Amino acid sequence: MSAYTLLAPAKINLYLEIIGDRPDGFHELAMIMQSVTLADRLALRPNGIQDFRLHCAHPQVPQDESNLAIKAAHLMATEFPETYANLGGVDIELEKNIPIAAGLAGGSGNAAAVLVGIDLIWQLGLTQPELQTLGAKLGSDVPFSLVGGTAIATGRGEKIASLPAYDQLWVVLAKYESLAVSTPWAYQTYRQTFGNTYARDRQDIIARAQQVHAGSLVTALNRHDSQRIGQLLHNDLEKVVLKEYDLVQQLRQHMQRAGGLGTMMSGSGPTVFTLCKSLVEAKQLTQQVQTTLDNPDLKLWVTQFSRQGIHLA
Ligand code: C5P
Repeated sequence: MSAYTLLAPAKINLYLEIIGDRPDGFHELAMIMQSVTLADRLALRPNGIQDFRLHCAHPQVPQDESNLAIKAAHLMATEFPETYANLGGVDIELEKNIPIAAGLAGGSGNAAAVLVGIDLIWQLGLTQPELQTLGAKLGSDVPFSLVGGTAIATGRGEKIASLPAYDQLWVVLAKYESLAVSTPWAYQTYRQTFGNTYARDRQDIIARAQQVHAGSLVTALNRHDSQRIGQLLHNDLEKVVLKEYDLVQQLRQHMQRAGGLGTMMSGSGPTVFTLCKSLVEAKQLTQQVQTTLDNPDLKLWVTQFSRQGIHLA
C-alpha cells in the first residue's frame, strides 16, 4: 500500500443566495463556488492498525473525533468494514494553510482529501459521484471541495454542476486572525431575520435554484468578462454577518475602496475577498489595505482562481 500527499484548495463564494427552508432543517441554496490555489496539504499513509490518527501543528485544529477529516476516515471504515479490517487505518499529517472558521471550506476540503486519500490507499476505485455521495454525508461543502474549479451548487450545496474552468483572476483574501464566525449562527440569524421572505412552494424553490444557471454571473463567467464578474458578486449572509461584526464591515469597505474588480464576504465569513485582474494589482491592493488598517491581527493572502479540487501534490 502506498502513501499519498494531496492538496485541498480553499473555496470562495462568488454568489450565495438563500432561497428557503428544507425539511432537514438546512437551507435551500443557489451558489457559485470557486476554488483558489491557497490549499491545505494532507499526507496520508497506511498505519497497519485499527485506528485513524491525525496530526496537525496548528494549535487551533482539533486532532480528535471533532475534526471533519477524522469523521471522513471513520465514514470510510463504516462504509468499507472488510477493507478496513484487512488493511487497517491511516495516519494523516495535515499542513494547515487555509485559515479556520473563515468561510473558505478549509475543514470540508480536508474531509474531501481524506475520502480521496483512503480511496487511493485501499484501491477502492470509487467514482466521482460515489465520492460526492459520501462527501454529502459529512458536510454541505464537501462535494464541491472534491470537484473544485468553478461550479453552481444547489440543494443544501451538495448538488454540483461544473462550469467551464476559468483561472485567470487573482484574489486577495483578508481575515482577522482572532475572528471566527459560526456558520450555524449565521444561517439561524438569517432565518430569524429574513425567514418571512423565504420561498415556501416546492416549484418556486426549484425555479429560483434554476435561475442561477441562466443568470448574469454564469454568462459573465462563460464570457470571461472579469469586470462583470466583479460587479455581480453577491452573498445573502453579508446581511447578518456584517451587521453583527463591525470589524468585518469596515474591512469590506477598505477592501472595496482599495480597488480591484469587486469585493465580497465568502460563505458565512468572516473572510472578505477582492477579485483582481493581475498579480501586480493584487499585491498592490494587499499592501494598501495592510498600510491603511495597520492591524497585526489582520492577515492577507494573494491567491488565484484554480481549476482543481482535491489533487495529488
Ligand atoms: O453542512 P455544514 O455542516 O457545513 O453546515 C453547517 C451549518 O450551516 C448547518 O448546521 C446549518 O446550520 C447551516 N447550513 C444551512 N443550510 C445549508 C448549509 C448549511 O442552514 N444549505
